Amino acid sequence: AFKPRVFSGVQPTGNLHLGNYLGAVSRWVPIQDQMESIFCVVDLHAITAGFPDAGKLASATREVTAAYIAAGIDPKKSIIFNQSQVREHAELAWIFNCVARIGWMNRMTQFKDKAGKNKENASLGLLAYPSLMAADILAYKATHVPVGDDQKQHLELTRDIAQKFNNDFAARIKELDVGVPNPTPSPELPEDLFFPVTEPMIAGPATRIMSLRDGTKKMSKSDPSDLSRINLTDDAEAISRKIKKAKTDPEALPSEVDGLKDRPEADNLVGIYAALSGQSKQDVLGEFGGQQFSAFKPALSDLAVEKLSPMTDEMRRLMADASEIDAILKTGAEKASAIAEPVLKDVRKIIGF
Ligand code: ADP
Ligand code: NA
Repeated sequence: AFKPRVFSGVQPTGNLHLGNYLGAVSRWVPIQDQMESIFCVVDLHAITAGFPDAGKLASATREVTAAYIAAGIDPKKSIIFNQSQVREHAELAWIFNCVARIGWMNRMTQFKDKAGKNKENASLGLLAYPSLMAADILAYKATHVPVGDDQKQHLELTRDIAQKFNNDFAARIKELDVGVPNPTPSPELPEDLFFPVTEPMIAGPATRIMSLRDGTKKMSKSDPSDLSRINLTDDAEAISRKIKKAKTDPEALPSEVDGLKDRPEADNLVGIYAALSGQSKQDVLGEFGGQQFSAFKPALSDLAVEKLSPMTDEMRRLMADASEIDAILKTGAEKASAIAEPVLKDVRKIIGF
């Protein structure tokens, strides 16, 4: 059987926000005690939307690394590194570009969102983004991927790529004896698998945090409005100002979760409170049901400040010493390479290089 192994990452494209923290990074912390874990700063992904200034890319990479550590990812327990330092990602992504079909990529809603109106002028890398994501995961034969809900479609594509590779090269995988027995044998499926068919881990009350200004859009680094998101580097004043200005409706909070239906802004704020306090949305409504936002918002601000400010302080401390962060990334890249190199060696043999 495949060894249980977790892989996930965040792009160094700007400030980390509450959505990245609640939907991804905070959920990695307990996982690192349960499974071998690899957490990547995906800088090759960051250039799909354009090349930032060289200095900016490096500082954003350090900032995401600092956020991982400040959030509780322990470099002694987990591998932390940046993608561009391990060549296997790019090499396997190219091979996967030749496994995946153009039609698969054309169906990706993130490409449609990010490319905007002028699709012909988007980078080819933006279209191929999910193929690189599949390579990130499968270069380590990762079995589990904890991400936010927006990545669901990309993870399905990762599974499709793994399955197509396993099927197309079934004979070579068997002949070279580089697979593991298929845990779910059937006449249509190969007996031995080279790549695992990865399981997404998308759970909890914060799988999709929405913009504070528009309950129909996800909170995102690329939203031009800074009021739309809480950044992990925001101070207490900024956090409470943004929550105060967050869009809401005129009703009181309901006492049952059902009452949040068709109230996306209320649902979002209750979800944020639940995720930050480690409760369910129903628990939160048990406490605040019947109250107005004028009472709930200050409680949410206090909670957010209480949870985020120690992390912000730790990030600032880490950012002040680039050499400490760089050393962690260097060690991490060495450990990551030690896993990915033998996988790619087998892939080359399977293909016939
Ligand atoms: P962004 O979408 O802000 O550019 P990334 O693409 O780097 O961020 O995503 C990093 C991780 O954060 C992924 O696991 C993604 O699913 C998660 N994530 C991003 N935005 C949100 C959100 N609004 N709510 C929950 N999780 C999110
Ligand atoms: Na994303």
